[in-house]
Amino acid sequence: MWARIIFPLLFTIFVLPQLPQARDDFSRQPAGQVILTRHDRSDSDPQQVHISLLGSDHIRVSWITDDRQAPSIVEYGTESGRFDVKARGVHTSYTYFQYSSGKIHHVKIGPLEPDTTYFYRCGESGPEFSFKTPPSTFPVEFVVVGDLGQTDWTASTLAHVDGQDYDVFLLPGDLSYANGHQPLWDSFGRLVEPSASRRPWMVTQGNHDIEILPNHPKGFVSYNSRWPMPYEESGSTSNLYYSFEVAATHIIMLGSYTDFDVDSAQYKWLEADLARVDRNKTPWILVLLHAPWYNTNTAHQGEGESMRQSMEELLYKARVDVVFAGHVHAYERFTRVYDNEKDKCGPVYITIGDGGNREGLALDYEEPASPLSLYREPSFGHGRFRILNETHAFWSWHRNNDADAIVADDVWFESLSTSKACWDTVDEQVSSSFSKDEL
Ligand SMILES: *[C@@H]1O[C@H](CO)[C@@H](O)[C@H](O)[C@H]1NC(C)=O
Ligand SMILES: [Fe+2]
Repeated sequence: MWARIIFPLLFTIFVLPQLPQARDDFSRQPAGQVILTRHDRSDSDPQQVHISLLGSDHIRVSWITDDRQAPSIVEYGTESGRFDVKARGVHTSYTYFQYSSGKIHHVKIGPLEPDTTYFYRCGESGPEFSFKTPPSTFPVEFVVVGDLGQTDWTASTLAHVDGQDYDVFLLPGDLSYANGHQPLWDSFGRLVEPSASRRPWMVTQGNHDIEILPNHPKGFVSYNSRWPMPYEESGSTSNLYYSFEVAATHIIMLGSYTDFDVDSAQYKWLEADLARVDRNKTPWILVLLHAPWYNTNTAHQGEGESMRQSMEELLYKARVDVVFAGHVHAYERFTRVYDNEKDKCGPVYITIGDGGNREGLALDYEEPASPLSLYREPSFGHGRFRILNETHAFWSWHRNNDADAIVADDVWFESLSTSKACWDTVDEQVSSSFSKDEL
């Protein structure tokens, strides 16, 4: 039975990346080589440092040490080299086949001031890091990039991301592409550390993060151990779906690889979470998930369909502004859609699974293009959603083109929260108590 597991593992690690890619006449960016990021600090020094948002004014600092005695302590302050505050947290570890993880530390720090730079040190050892907390009001800028992996394209995407300021990094699934080969999670953690230690990274899961084993029948052991998200704070019982608020934006992370039918815990949580949103306080609602509900690429056709059929109406009636997905290794932007038709009160759907993983790009699209699909292109890159105020946001997609990050697609968004026509129809559609008196 081990052979049944080991063979597919070896296959994905050694054979799959060597197989020729499907090609058309286009000369598109080829799949990148996997970069292994080495561990060059001491056993007790922190590695793979990353931060995430935890409630309205706290941050979770996560890192790993080889040394099991290393303390789960973060020291921090607003001046470099001077750590006035000390916080103690928790630690965990896991095993996977022969692999034993290092000591995985998670420490909650705060309360913190908005839009402020903090300097910090992990485990009373190793280098000083710094991060900036997000602002409490608009403008706020989100970077969105899915299917990241760890190739030279990933490195170029992250270099472009960090080359221009932003507040929070949003990742709609597929992080390390370890596919069970656990040292690749460590290597991924080291590769992203320079970005993920300086801005909060908020993630949801992709299919490559599942990693089911007989002793881990539910999967996600590595993902959940290394990348805990603030699910309890949003009333969820699973790290696979949660919501959070930052600068008057309500952001919902859904799980494409856990139950989502109308009887599921995730569905009930989503329904309750949307009902709690006050559009006067958070005029914008963004949703992220992995397998796209709308997709005209030939790759992964229909994989998001049963989730769409279950949950689309909830998002529509809540007047969600945008749904970002990954999974398809390309960029695609749709118009506002509901139930496969153009609808001015539906979300805009954007596929942004183009972070740079080793599988390469999804090159082929259905022809002729659906009129719902406004822009589609198989290239690596990242997106930026800059919310200027209650009503306006600017979306730009930045294609990686050798050294430069080129803006290839951009569009202005108007929040549905202020569209009177859309809320009048909701009145007819639902009798529930959305607060919309002043909209
Ligand atoms: C919001 O920003 C847009 C774009 O800059 C601007 O045209 C609009 O007047 C702003 N609205 C408010 C209420 O400030
Ligand atoms: Fe995927």
